[in-house]
Amino acid sequence: MEDSHHDQIAKWERRWIAGSGLITLGFVILIAYSLATEGAHIAQSAARGTPEQLLAQPLFLEPGVRTVGPGRVEVSLVAQAFAWQPEVVRVPVNAEVTFYLTARDVIHGWQVERTNLNVEVIPGEVSRLRTTFDTPGRYRVTCNEYCGIGHHNMLGWIEVVPASQLGATASAIGDPAAAGVLAEGAAGTLAAGAVDGAAVYARHCSSCHGPQAAGIRGAFPPLAGHVADLAALDGGRAYLARVLLYGLQGAIVVDGASYAGVMPGWANLTDDELAAVLDHLVALDGPAVDAFTPDEIAAERDLGLSPADVHAERAEVVTP
Ligand code: CUA
Repeated sequence: MEDSHHDQIAKWERRWIAGSGLITLGFVILIAYSLATEGAHIAQSAARGTPEQLLAQPLFLEPGVRTVGPGRVEVSLVAQAFAWQPEVVRVPVNAEVTFYLTARDVIHGWQVERTNLNVEVIPGEVSRLRTTFDTPGRYRVTCNEYCGIGHHNMLGWIEVVPASQLGATASAIGDPAAAGVLAEGAAGTLAAGAVDGAAVYARHCSSCHGPQAAGIRGAFPPLAGHVADLAALDGGRAYLARVLLYGLQGAIVVDGASYAGVMPGWANLTDDELAAVLDHLVALDGPAVDAFTPDEIAAERDLGLSPADVHAERAEVVTP
């Protein structure tokens, strides 16, 4: 090749390199500009480890809101397919709020509407970010990274309320789900203080197991019929309580179909809610079994089991 040819090529290579450098510089300037003028946040990495190690920290054993000083609160949040734990976070207006976020399973995206809060939530990392909400209201939280078949159902709320209202019930500030349950109770279908298992199911379980609890063959096992069958087995009731509290991880076969998904634990729900959702499921189909009591659920709490431990236990309860 002639020398002039080489020079031509080298000239165009330099132009490409300079062009890509300018684009990168442009992005850096835009980020710096938005940080300086728009109050954008970059989440800091507060800790790293295996998801198991991180979730065993006191911060995440009971995720939620803690007051750490006058006008200062701390919020720990766990993302999992397909829910935020806790689903509703209530913080005082104008307080300094520090969020700690981590994921149990895969990467999720935490985005809070009408704010510039947008953080990638990564298993094995704790992201920290600080913010202040200066406008009271209900802010919808969505997941903005595809995380599986129920991704679109991964919703949560941040309720920003005057400090004096922190103890108010959800319905008082317009939670449609809570208001609906209360309205039903007022109509006489629910005893005072009773939990509607169907509502708990619709809220937390239906995104995977389907509105009729029929499951999705090969992805999420059916619960209608299956739960009642399990409850009728020796040790089946305690096993079901443990699946709800600790989750289930490992291959299983239900009605001839194989499943290898991960069921997250729901220990953040109350004993009443878990008993009510089991009652709702056993009533759908299968043999009649006695109602679950909150005490039955409570007896299985705080055993420190892993989803894999619960899977190992399943082999003892369910004999093929
Ligand atoms: Cu979580 Cu998408």
